[in-house]
Formats: sequence, C-alpha cells, structure tokens
Amino acid sequence: MGIVFGMISTDQRLKSESVFEALCHYIPGGVSSPVRSFKGLLDTPLVAVRGEGGKVYDVDDNGYIDFCMSWGALIHGHAKPEIAKAAADQAYQGSSFGLTTPYELRLAEKIHELVPSCEKVRFVSSGTEATMSAMRLARGYTGRDLIVKFSGNYHGHADLLLVKAGSGVRDINKEATSKGVPQQAIQTTVSLEFNDTEGFNQFMNEKGFQVAAVIVEPIAGNMGTVPGSQEFINALRSKTLESGSVLIFDEVMTGFRVAKGGAQSLYNITPDLTCFSKIVGGGFPVGAFAGKKAIMDCLAPLGEVYQAGTLSGNPVAMAAGLKALELLDESGFYEALNHKTDIIVKPVEKRIKEKGVNVTLNRVGSMFTLFFGVKEVKSLSDVDKMDAGTFKKFFSYLFERGVLAPPSPHEAWFVSAAHKEKELEKTRDIVLEFLDQFC
Ligand SMILES: Cc1ncc(COP(=O)(O)O)c(C=O)c1O
Repeated sequence: MGIVFGMISTDQRLKSESVFEALCHYIPGGVSSPVRSFKGLLDTPLVAVRGEGGKVYDVDDNGYIDFCMSWGALIHGHAKPEIAKAAADQAYQGSSFGLTTPYELRLAEKIHELVPSCEKVRFVSSGTEATMSAMRLARGYTGRDLIVKFSGNYHGHADLLLVKAGSGVRDINKEATSKGVPQQAIQTTVSLEFNDTEGFNQFMNEKGFQVAAVIVEPIAGNMGTVPGSQEFINALRSKTLESGSVLIFDEVMTGFRVAKGGAQSLYNITPDLTCFSKIVGGGFPVGAFAGKKAIMDCLAPLGEVYQAGTLSGNPVAMAAGLKALELLDESGFYEALNHKTDIIVKPVEKRIKEKGVNVTLNRVGSMFTLFFGVKEVKSLSDVDKMDAGTFKKFFSYLFERGVLAPPSPHEAWFVSAAHKEKELEKTRDIVLEFLDQFC
C-alpha cells in the first residue's frame, strides 16, 4: 500500500450534486460549455465557487489542486490580487463604453513588444471569434476560399473549422464535427494529418495556389499536448510563402504560455497572423488576432473585411490582460514555472522509463499530457490508439485525492506560477502511485 491521501467521497459532495441537478433543469447538461460536464468521468462535475492560487474550491468547500486552470488561461493562478485589483479599479471607471479607449492601446503595445510579428492587433472576446475572424481576413486578403487545418487541432466552434477537430467535439463523433454545420460551410476546409510534412508539401504543391490560409496549433493542446516538429512547422512557413497563402498560428493556448514570445519564438518562425485568447485576458473574456500590417489593414474601417463586437476591447478585460502580461516580465518567470512543472514531470518520466510501461508523457514548458496505452504520440492517429479506460480511472483516482486533472484525455495539464511546491509534490506522488498500481 502506498501513501494514503485524504479522500473526497461522494457524501462530501452533496451540495455539488444538488446544485448540479438544479443547473441541469435550466441549462442544457448543466453547463455553459460541454467539457465542464465531466461526461463519462463523473456523474457530478466540480461545481466551482472560488479559487485561490493553485487551488479551486467546490460548493461543498472541498479544495482541489487545479491543473485545468481555466483551460490554461490562469498562468498566474486563481484570484491573483494584482489582476483582480486592475480589473476592479477599471470597473469603477466604467465597465464598457463601446468606444475606442487608451486601454486597448496599452495591451496592443504589450502584445507587440512580446510577440513582434503582431504589428497590428484587433481585439475580440474569445478564441473562437479570433480564429473565425482571422479566417475571414485571410480570405478577404487573398481572394481565395480554401482553408487548410490539421486533424486534432481545435480552433473554436465556428462552422468552417469544426472538421476533424480536437477538444470536446471529439467526444461527439469520430469525424469530430457538429450537427448543424452545413456541408457548404466546410466544403472549402481541408483537414490534413498533423506532423505529416510530406503529405502537407504534396497537398500544397497541387492546391497551394487556391489556399487562403493554413491554420495550425504549432504545439497542439487540444488532442493532448503534441508539439509540431521543427521540420513540419518550417514546411508550413515555406510552402505558404511559396503559394501566397496566409500562415496563421493559433496561439490561443500556447501564447504567453510556452514562452513569453509564444510558440513562434521557440520555432523561430514568423507567421502572418496569430490568434490569442486565454492568458491575454488574465482570466477575463478576451481574444485577439494580430499580425502583418498589410493584412490587418484589410479590416473595416480601413478595408472591406467586416468584423465587429459590442464588447470587443472591453476596458475591464483589457486592464486584467495588461496586468497578466506585465507580470510575465518578472525576472526568471518562465524558468520558475518550468522548474515547478519539472517537480511532477521529471519523476513521472523516469518511472515510465524504468517500468517500460505503455504510457507517453508529452510536455512543452508548463503544459503536458499523459497518454495511456501508447508509446509515442505525434498525431491524431496516435491519440486515437490511446486507452480511454485507464484515463477514466486515472482522472477519478486523482479527483478523489483532491487533484483536478483536465476532465478529458484530449486536453493538456497547465501548471501555474501560483502552484506551491507542496501541491506539486503531492500531485507527483499520487500520479506515481497510480502508475505503480495500474500501469
Ligand atoms: C488553440 C485554441 N484555439 C481556439 C480555441 C477557442 O477558444 P474559446 O474557447 O475562447 O472560444 C481554443 C479553446 O480552448 C483553443 O485551445
């Protein structure tokens, strides 16, 4: 018998159960976004009421060490006082004007400083809006229709990108698309195998001249963490330059996460456009798409590509986002974050190697995923061979011991700057104990 951790039993979650039951009465599935239902994992999901640093608390006041971290948005952890204050101060000045403000200028300047490829920025309110608008912009700019994406990448829920997508839509059907998406909306979207350089080159050699945009999660996070190879990402850049197509990095998850300059700084590749959300809003609803002046200036009011939003550039969200990005400037921020991640990842990798078990751990910086039942994961075809049963057991094992892993095998864990070493060590021990007992 290994270490025994305090267990959270179902009778300690009675309020959660009754609140969720009531939620289900008025809200489809009891949730405002499908993966929050923990479908197939638990009957009652975590019903959150507050967060503090590395922990999230449910309505029964059980605390969980949180590695979902609002799906990667909270790099500074829950309720970071500086961010809360920045947002509150702004709210007292007015929460929305529907007019242009200096707050957008400060955040746009900061984004440009950290990610120099972002010469101009347009703010929206979510990642979906950012990618959807970037698609329209790329089509308007090139005068072409075809969109190339990669299977298992998720770019939000706009019709044209819901084809062989990652994240929650994979739980719906194998094609990972949605009912209600008309065939016409996706007939100009092509989904190719991620990390298949040869297949991509071949496609572009034949059809590149018709391609408006190639959109990619350079480090995929929505089929679990799967980094693109340098060779693959290089090919995306050189082929899009050759064909005059717009290369779009979807850095909604990786932006300001894997490095201050995002995935593009790690690969040393300059995309034409970049999409952001999550960290850029400091936990508030912000999205952005940004990039080359010549492309961005095609947007209305300068150009004829229309895009708009009542709450876009919302001042409260701008203030929170700016503070979140400023906090990244603390010296050694990413080194400390990576060191924290090492506390879990290094011993787990070692144990996997020693035991020779069929488990893969993919990691980039402070995001990682454990894949059960597979020795290597480079694409969606590898992800599809994963052992879902063991993931389910793993998730419950952790949850009962007060650790919240992302509630889907197709997601990444996120370590925040607020996680305490003790919390990380506890998590490490529970994961090792699980590997010893069940793998
Ligand atoms: C890479 C990526 N792009 C786009 C989105 C969609 O963002 P949102 O959920 O804010 O619409 C997500 C969401 O997780 C994402 O991870």
